[in-house]
Amino acid sequence: MKTKITELFGIEHPIIQGGMHYVGFAELAAAVSNAGGLGMITGLTQRSPQALAAEIRRCRDMTDKPFGVNLTFLPTVTSPDYPGYIRAIIEGGVKVVETAGNNPQKWLPALHEADVKVIHKCTSVRHALKAEAIGCDAVSVDGFECGGHPGEDDVPNFILLPRAAEVLTIPFVASGGMADGRSLVAALALGAEGINMGTRFIATTEAPVHQNVKDAIVAASELDTRLVMRPLRNTERVLRNAAVDRLLEKEKNLGADLKFEDIIDEVAGVYPRIMQDGTMDAGAWSCGMVAGLIHDIPSVKILIDRIMQEADAIIGKRLIGLLHR
Ligand SMILES: Cc1cc2nc3c(=O)[nH]c(=O)nc-3n(C[C@H](O)[C@H](O)[C@H](O)COP(=O)(O)O)c2cc1C
Repeated sequence: MKTKITELFGIEHPIIQGGMHYVGFAELAAAVSNAGGLGMITGLTQRSPQALAAEIRRCRDMTDKPFGVNLTFLPTVTSPDYPGYIRAIIEGGVKVVETAGNNPQKWLPALHEADVKVIHKCTSVRHALKAEAIGCDAVSVDGFECGGHPGEDDVPNFILLPRAAEVLTIPFVASGGMADGRSLVAALALGAEGINMGTRFIATTEAPVHQNVKDAIVAASELDTRLVMRPLRNTERVLRNAAVDRLLEKEKNLGADLKFEDIIDEVAGVYPRIMQDGTMDAGAWSCGMVAGLIHDIPSVKILIDRIMQEADAIIGKRLIGLLHR
């Protein structure tokens, strides 16, 4: 399948793996790229620019296909060494960066000068338009159903994607709730040029996370996610567990007085304990409503091939068949 996204990034299938903290290591990024999609190393999971440079080298040893790096701009006071991370990306020869969390304008000249394409992930039409205006090459439009940070507007993809299509001229992919060939065809119908998936890629054999995480996603239904940190305007969609229940109880009790320090035990530094140790109640971890559509743990290649075959069958048989009845 050829779309503006496959052409922009030089990939075979219009499927991107979004950056995921403590999931997006070289193993997963390389597996996605080797299967014809676009894999993404999560920059900030690497504690320093030097560590990111080593992870990029490791990924390059595992694939000769294009892969990208996610750079998330955090709402923290002491910011990570972003110039160092940008240098590691450029010097590592990476040609795609997925930015998220904040406006990437400051970093675009250096990235574009090094021939790096930038796809900015955003959760609203106005942010997508802003990304286009500042010169991003593409956007990833992340609907309310997504795992991670859906923003504060709560617009689901059935509205958000066609709205994006009405106003954008740069290509965009649909993100949030994408799982299979049906998702891909629907995303294309709504105006997207491909899909970005997070949660679905965690439940694959190559995702370098504890088996408990994969099993929890398969066991979860579409009713099992919760929104946390709403009062802090840093909303995150997570899988419900004991820590999340505790966190929500604190949010209810403290109301407008809630501060980040009140919930630090449930959210800070919990990812390694969940993703690596498999301690599932250690804290809040991002997971999309799409968990309800995830019933197995295939290899990345089987997953991507299956999505493309399903999409082919839906377009070539079901939809065409409807027209020629
Ligand atoms: C466990 C997990 C961690 C994530 N970490 C990040 C991150 O560090 N930076 C980022 O931009 N997006 C992050 N995301 C969001 C994904 O890149 C993607 O946009 C989202 O998962 C899409 O929704 P889906 O889960 O319904 O596919 C994360 C998602 C998950 C599930």
